[in-house]
Amino acid sequence: MSGQIISGKAISETIKSELQAQVAKLVEQGIKPGLAVIIVGENPASQVYVRNKARTCIQLGMHSEIHELPESTSEEALLQLIADLNQNQSIHGILVQLPLPKHIHEQHVLDAIDPGKDVDGFHPVQVGNMVIGNRSYLPCTPNGVIELLKRSNIEIAGKHAVVVGRSNIVGKPVAMLLLRENATVTICHSRTADLAAITKQADILVVAIGRAEAITAEHIKPGAVVIDVGINRTEDGRLVGDVDFASAQAVSSHITPVPGGVGPMTITMLMFNTLDAARTLNGIV
Ligand code: GUN
Repeated sequence: MSGQIISGKAISETIKSELQAQVAKLVEQGIKPGLAVIIVGENPASQVYVRNKARTCIQLGMHSEIHELPESTSEEALLQLIADLNQNQSIHGILVQLPLPKHIHEQHVLDAIDPGKDVDGFHPVQVGNMVIGNRSYLPCTPNGVIELLKRSNIEIAGKHAVVVGRSNIVGKPVAMLLLRENATVTICHSRTADLAAITKQADILVVAIGRAEAITAEHIKPGAVVIDVGINRTEDGRLVGDVDFASAQAVSSHITPVPGGVGPMTITMLMFNTLDAARTLNGIV
């Protein structure tokens, strides 16, 4: 078996063209969706992500602004900027790029964003609404994973989905979204006793552990769908996922590559949320 590649790049291009048309319609009604992205410090990976987010906003006809703050910024100053953006009528989505410098308390900052503008879906109100199945902005990477599966016609209901990783950004929310789609969900993590014994039971395996090529064919049931959320730079400069692609592809039915898999979906779902926020904040349902 050689797993079919799920191209997040191609799927995200399709979604972006759908969004572009919807943005144009909203602009005709006098509403231009606006996203403010805040970056504190000079983490090079974060700088690339933030630039890509801004570029995609512009491509889709949205308003974009980047607030670049020095590493030494105080938590108080950051909270003040968020308070200003919460009040700013031309901004519908606010995203604070993570990680933040160590002297800033991440949860204080996420809690300060108006939940109605929380297009990352990280505010406790959004998280709570997601868990109980209320309308909410869904976190971008987890929602991107679900969208990849749906648009690849992969049945989720009734399947055993195993998630490796339990972060607040990916592992926990993706498990919750898979549950919402009626999968039977197992979450594995660094303290899981026999990881391969559990991942081998997965019909759908979602990997988000942040360790280069840690999941290999030995962890995968033949015919499983493998979604690799990882992105790691190896010592020899290659960009790889958390899954050893070559060995995993040989046993899977479908697999996402790195780069070009889950990555492009994250930004696309952020654009989706920003458009949704612009509509919702203007009373358009
Ligand atoms: N850092 C890595 N991923 C993300 C994300 O999805 N949102 C934010 N705000 N920061 C991140």
